[in-house]
Amino acid sequence: MSEEAHRLDCTTVISTKDFSRLKEFLYKECGIKITDSKKTMLETRLQRRLRALGLSSFSSYCDYLFRPEAKEDELIQAIDAVTTNKTDFFREPAHFDYLTRHALPDLVGDGCGRRTITIWSAGCSTGEEPYTLAMVMKGFTEMHRSMAFEILATDISTRVLEKAQLGIYDEERIQPIPDPFKKAFLLKSRDISKKVYRVVPELRDKVRFRRLNFMDGDFGFREEMDVIFCRNVIIYFDKQTQERLLNRFCAHLSDEGYLFVGHSETLLGMDVPLVQVAPTIYRKRA
Ligand SMILES: C[S@@+](CC[C@H](N)C(=O)[O-])C[C@H]1O[C@@H](n2cnc3c(N)ncnc32)[C@H](O)[C@@H]1O
Repeated sequence: MSEEAHRLDCTTVISTKDFSRLKEFLYKECGIKITDSKKTMLETRLQRRLRALGLSSFSSYCDYLFRPEAKEDELIQAIDAVTTNKTDFFREPAHFDYLTRHALPDLVGDGCGRRTITIWSAGCSTGEEPYTLAMVMKGFTEMHRSMAFEILATDISTRVLEKAQLGIYDEERIQPIPDPFKKAFLLKSRDISKKVYRVVPELRDKVRFRRLNFMDGDFGFREEMDVIFCRNVIIYFDKQTQERLLNRFCAHLSDEGYLFVGHSETLLGMDVPLVQVAPTIYRKRA
């Protein structure tokens, strides 16, 4: 096929049949619900993948994506194409205020004895959320010396996890971080032509990154979490999948542990063992 014919073919629409196949596949593999109104977006975003792979039709792309081995590579690319990895340091700052003013003092109680607070950033994207948590927790544990903390950060996308693990961000991304935290936890590149910063090793060491697809039968860890941040993730799933997933989160949440969801997400009408304690903040019923 000539280059021009290839280019034109790549801009053709997805057939109804291929759109249904893609929708079903993405729903089964990662719980993401694509409505018919997203067809054009899916087409535009996946056309880039077709070009990158040198494929001439959506039908051949489906065949490529549905191979069993694609679970380790192309599935991630397809998920990246249909979801957004949008995140920020100190995103929805009221959550971090609530954590330090209410949740942590409640979890710590009278503070007698040593205690490790366990936190899970579920759907951590490029790391801004777990590193924000690590900064806040460092501040808290400095004032409560008998306390320690551990953070698990997971995402389905290996691409975002690689970036998260590096912990390198440009000047614009670090803007929301309060100055004292910037001073304490970020190192500026020695190369003055580059305006990039790296999270200090002592903070990076506090976050354990792992790939995890929420649709997997087993999350692959046993420990109970005191706090789960799962923000701006369940929005991609239908109500039924959300409810199932939230119940699985609760199985990993300690009694009276806290769950934080995104500002546009609601658990209203769901059968889950959680009580709302503040907008978008829930606590597990003991
Ligand atoms: C919009 S980001 C949210 C990042 C962060 N929690 C925040 O609020 O700033 C959503 C993340 O969910 C991840 N995600 C989507 N489907 C997933 C799945 N089935 N399992 C695990 N992570 C998933 C995406 O890869 C993406 O990085």
